[in-house]
Amino acid sequence: MNARPDNAASSILLSQYRPPAWRVESVELEFDLGIDRTEVLSRLTLRRDPSQQAPLRLDGEELELLSIALDGKALATSAYRYADGVLEVEGVTDGSVLETRVALDPANNTALEGLYLSGTREAGFLLTQCEAEGFRHIAFFPDRPDVLASYTVTLRADRTRFPVLLAGGNPDGSGDTGDGRHWARFVDPHPKPSYLFALVAGQLEKIERDYITADGRPVKLVIWAEGDAIDRCHYAMDALERSMRWDEQAYGRNYDLDVFHVVATHDFNMGAMENKGLNIFNAKYLLADPDTATDDEYRAVEAVVAHEYFHNWSGNRVTCRDWFQLSLKEGLTVFREQQFSADMNSPALKRIEDVSLLRRAQFPEDAGPLAHPVRPAQYQEINNFYTATVYEKGSELVRMVAGKLGREGFRRGMDLYFERNDGRAATLEDFLGALGEANAVDLMPYLAWYGQAGTPRIKASGQYDDAKRCYTLRLTQRTAPTPGQAEKAALPIPIKLALFDADGGMLPLHLGDAEDGATERVIVLDRAEQSLVFAQVDAEPVPSLLRGFSAPTILEFDYSPQQLALLLRHDADGFNRWEAGQQLAAQAYDALRDGSRTQAVQAWCDALAALFADGDIDDALLADLLTPPSEIELAEREQEVDPVRIHDTRRALQGVLAEHIGAEALAVRYRTLMTQAGDGLDAASQAGRRLKQCVLELWERVDSASAQAAAAMQCAQARTMTDRLAALALLVHSESAEATTALAQFRTRHGNDPLAMDKWFAVQAMVPGEGALARVKGLAADPAFTLKNPNRVRALLGGWARSNLSGFHRADGAGYRYLADRLRELDALNPQVAARLATVFNGWRRLEQGRREQARAAIASLASESTLSRNLGEIVRSMLGD
Ligand code: PHE
Ligand code: ZN
Repeated sequence: MNARPDNAASSILLSQYRPPAWRVESVELEFDLGIDRTEVLSRLTLRRDPSQQAPLRLDGEELELLSIALDGKALATSAYRYADGVLEVEGVTDGSVLETRVALDPANNTALEGLYLSGTREAGFLLTQCEAEGFRHIAFFPDRPDVLASYTVTLRADRTRFPVLLAGGNPDGSGDTGDGRHWARFVDPHPKPSYLFALVAGQLEKIERDYITADGRPVKLVIWAEGDAIDRCHYAMDALERSMRWDEQAYGRNYDLDVFHVVATHDFNMGAMENKGLNIFNAKYLLADPDTATDDEYRAVEAVVAHEYFHNWSGNRVTCRDWFQLSLKEGLTVFREQQFSADMNSPALKRIEDVSLLRRAQFPEDAGPLAHPVRPAQYQEINNFYTATVYEKGSELVRMVAGKLGREGFRRGMDLYFERNDGRAATLEDFLGALGEANAVDLMPYLAWYGQAGTPRIKASGQYDDAKRCYTLRLTQRTAPTPGQAEKAALPIPIKLALFDADGGMLPLHLGDAEDGATERVIVLDRAEQSLVFAQVDAEPVPSLLRGFSAPTILEFDYSPQQLALLLRHDADGFNRWEAGQQLAAQAYDALRDGSRTQAVQAWCDALAALFADGDIDDALLADLLTPPSEIELAEREQEVDPVRIHDTRRALQGVLAEHIGAEALAVRYRTLMTQAGDGLDAASQAGRRLKQCVLELWERVDSASAQAAAAMQCAQARTMTDRLAALALLVHSESAEATTALAQFRTRHGNDPLAMDKWFAVQAMVPGEGALARVKGLAADPAFTLKNPNRVRALLGGWARSNLSGFHRADGAGYRYLADRLRELDALNPQVAARLATVFNGWRRLEQGRREQARAAIASLASESTLSRNLGEIVRSMLGD
């Protein structure tokens, strides 16, 4: 489990978990920091598990070993071996102290794992990223999450070049070393796994706030960023304070150190990292002001700040026994973050946003060659398992269980979970066990969800019996085979449901049991097939199923367009109301594509036109309703995917809707929103901006010239990034004559801001159709593009290959070949980012034959490369089914 096998393609198995033979009681680390050379002295106090005999084996990757001593005596070279990422030491006994000194080269670390340089050599700063296995790039250590130790960290560096020195834990002294350098010490009283270690050193500005926890601890909150960027951290500071209060109120969880540091970097592989007491953020999820961040980005900042803060309990105080349990911290923390965001904003809109993301990112994963359970049984490279399945589906599993227990019951269960596992490395069994025990229910049947990949498909059908006045709902579930899992079990699926009469009223539900007469019920489908008979029903009802998206499944019911229109008009469940609209849009889409059920187009247009005219509906919800399912979701419904046809059909569908609403009504609405909507961050202003963008896009379909002129004006005069970017996107994507000027003006205004420039790249990467590849190639040659910056790579290559279906999936396969070439280059610099980008090929097997063959050839050419990283190698091999 601990030692990495030398064959790069061999797997680590959950079934082979063994507790560590050696633990570390305490760690002392001393860093002599420099950009080209950093030396690290590590002193480990070791504890042996008396029941195990194994020699001491420590992880260490690419470390230059300068010295090694055991219990104060330098070791002879015969007493240790360092090869293939493992240091084996002889003669270690319980209580021994092992001291090693190693040298690192942070400036040349382009993988952004371990200790690395963010920014330029002249002005940048040093920082670390240790999850999942980065600590072994810093010091020799049993680098696994079930080894919890207390850390004392001393940093030394040149005072002028590195005025700020930070590490996790509480500050424990600082001073001058006398030679132009200074030092600072930090002690973390809470034992933690090595993946939560962090340090930061450089020139950074700060903002501070005093906070007092509910249990009376004064805490200094400090956010750090480079130069002027610090002025864009106030929103994050407010979000942090809201998160801390919320966790106290919702879960009774208080913060537990004297300081809480948050640092922004532009060079980061992921979104952010919950290092104990020293969170490190991708600047994209920390910096926000109206001129540079969109409304969506503001919401993301709030959510990610909360997410990382919540990890302090769900992840740090209670951590994971092994990386197979990753969802124990991630699924749970995403769930807590979603609850928080729902409380801060609109619960219904939040649910729509979360389910849309699940469908765009997780359903395709579950249906493709990389499908894996929320708790995988094996992996080659753990970094490949920070997936939508572990995060987003993991959150849905917590939500199902929380729904079953109710708000109070879930809180009771969480209290027991935290109390029992505080300071420990836990498993998903510990989690479900505590929740169940606190409520005297057996939750272990839900464990099956964690072990089974694939999205269950529920088929529902209804039969009304006039004579008996009863309605029978028949439900079946089936999960298609996934790689390595041919047989699927029936899972416990909570289905929240209601029945509507023809006037849109909810019927009392009579199932002949204790809850008889309620208008909404949750039934659990836990067999392959099940029927429910509702009595005292006067006419055929319209069922509203899986309300609030009560389980991460695909539910099929053969609704007529009229039934969906009824739900769209009357369903009180905000999510299901939107969902009815989405299903109706999908029917309308099918009708346009192959001429079936043409009354669906009419029903969809009529329903939306009525809602458009209705003054009462919330602007943001209306915008969501006016937006048909994404191209990715539409592709998921097809067997032989032709991305260009999907793009064209969806666009035609929007055109039909725009015609139906009418150019005049759209223009009027646009102008009203233009004058009414404020520039603030309040919900009404944000909703207004969202609807305005949506209306502008529809308007462009029916009166291109007027809409483009309005967009050019909006782009030039916008006071928020949301408005500026929306208008820019419209001009660029409709290939307006104004686009070039607008892009140039945007660049002049924002050229020095990397986050705004990411948007400049992304908006152009999204131009639909054949021409996208030439644009992407041109942009990749722009001096502002670099493969070394993950945000820039994701903006250009990620935006194009993941979200621009008609632009990436060229029939001639040139898009695939170009991406494969960039992936080869990127892999040599940053394997984690390369592997993640390669997952855009995930759906290749379901492409129509011509593209399928081209995609296969591109993936196979990568797979045949002998120098691929373990990260990218595992992805491309799994993709091909090897
Ligand atoms: N643990 C981080 C989070 O979800 C994600 C992360 C994983 C960051 C690995 C860096 C490296 O909050
Ligand atoms: Zn997380």
